[in-house]
Amino acid sequence: MIVRAPAKVNLRLGVGPLRDDGYHDLVNVFHAVSLFDEVVVEPADRLAVEVERMPGARVDVGQVPCDDRNLAVRAARLVAARLGVEPAVALRIRKAIPVAGGMAGGSADAAAALLACARLWDDPATPILDRAALLGLAAEIGSDVPFALVGGTAVGLGRGERLTAVAANGPFHWVFATADGGLSTPAVYAECDRLRAAGAVDAVWPHDAGDLYAALESGDADVLGAALGNDLEAAALSLRPALGATLDAGKRAGALGALVSGSGPTCAFLAADAGHAERVAEALAAEDTVAAAVPAAGPAPGAAVVRPAADR
Ligand code: C5P
Repeated sequence: MIVRAPAKVNLRLGVGPLRDDGYHDLVNVFHAVSLFDEVVVEPADRLAVEVERMPGARVDVGQVPCDDRNLAVRAARLVAARLGVEPAVALRIRKAIPVAGGMAGGSADAAAALLACARLWDDPATPILDRAALLGLAAEIGSDVPFALVGGTAVGLGRGERLTAVAANGPFHWVFATADGGLSTPAVYAECDRLRAAGAVDAVWPHDAGDLYAALESGDADVLGAALGNDLEAAALSLRPALGATLDAGKRAGALGALVSGSGPTCAFLAADAGHAERVAEALAAEDTVAAAVPAAGPAPGAAVVRPAADR
């Protein structure tokens, strides 16, 4: 069984105050893009995991843990426990999504493993894990995992896991500039809190994303470019000042919008069309602060079976 799941970019990340449970309330507008990890799942004697680079992808798979810290491993264990079976599968994770890059690659792998293991172990005639149950398990694994199942464009409230679809008239063409070395999501949220407490940045909460929804519905990339925003950007730039040069380079190359993706360090650039995206990618690839510049389009579908391994 092979399942692929998409990367995401946050078109708007409105961050509220720190909650008692250690999370922040969010208005988190997710957009899935056509950059996919694949998880190959095969029955085995016991749970095993292997991580490899998708051919042609510039990702550092050495950073991905192969133990219970791996979100796909947690997903397999959770599905097995819920269905009362042994988690006896070999997971082969083929990565194209930047690692610790702010594009929810680990969450995509978890969503893919959830879907694959449910297909493998659940009874298709009377499934225990219907769509709602799978979304519940996804939220247990991480705030971004439910969106990787759903894909498209959606707003996540609460800690980001309570999803509602958002109407978007794409396609929109993007370039993602990756950086060497990841950023820790908890560290970026903590830096955001620190900057706010120090009065260095203003916290605007509650957050109104009405202008972004109108831009998405219009399908106009110019309007969307002006409506993008990320409350974590100042924190990511504070921890990794070199990202400022990456953002400036994309703007100089004519990007219609430029922002840090999620908690970074990947930066996202909106282009007018596919040809423009190629030109922006070429300009970004020449920058010292950019490891790779990858074009992709959104919205992309959520986690889905590609085809059974036997057919490949
Ligand atoms: O849910 P997930 O495990 O992906 O979150 C990783 C970390 O990101 C959390 O431990 C927390 O520090 C931070 N986070 C947050 N508020 C959110 C989502 C994540 O502070 N809504």
